[in-house]
Amino acid sequence: MDWKELVRERYSCRKYMGTAVSDEVLDELLEEARLAPSAANRQPWMVYVVREPATRSQFKRAYDQEWFYRAPVILVFCGSAEQSYKRKDGALARDIDVAIAVDHLTLAATARGLGTCWIMAFDPLPVKEILGIPEPWEPVILLPVGYPGEEQRKPRKRKPLKELVRRV
Ligand SMILES: Cc1cc2nc3c(=O)[nH]c(=O)nc-3n(C[C@H](O)[C@H](O)[C@H](O)COP(=O)(O)O)c2cc1C
Repeated sequence: MDWKELVRERYSCRKYMGTAVSDEVLDELLEEARLAPSAANRQPWMVYVVREPATRSQFKRAYDQEWFYRAPVILVFCGSAEQSYKRKDGALARDIDVAIAVDHLTLAATARGLGTCWIMAFDPLPVKEILGIPEPWEPVILLPVGYPGEEQRKPRKRKPLKELVRRV
């Protein structure tokens, strides 16, 4: 799949098949996330790989959607404010850096026929409890990963470029 196809093929997958994702494929995805750039190269992120069905079921407490917690793999991307680049005015790169890594992973997954869906609207407290996430890590994005099932895909709605771009 070339780049133009890849960015058009990725979508938020909200239906997963039970088919397992191999460790080899998962390792490739994680390796390609690792190559993501980060502010001052601080790489202030880490990721939990959750495969165990009993653990995934507990994620219902954090985000109560069956398509999410039944996906064969859930990645929990965490960020650290301590490890992040901080601009003079206090702005943190943490969540930007996490997002770049997540984006690399979503595209790496698409290239291998896998589906993903960014989840931010979750309750972080149960996630911290379930995984015993220590300080200074904060869960930022949950990412189910799996082979996509048939689903009605929403038409891609994006603002027109003329609304997004100002040429000065
Ligand atoms: C930072 C971020 C947070 C998101 N959080 C959620 C979420 O909590 N639940 C969900 O179903 N989708 C979530 N999404 C998916 C968006 O709804 C989706 O990307 C957007 O509607 C565009 O659709 P597409 O990904 O299929 O192109 C999130 C996406 C991003 C980038």
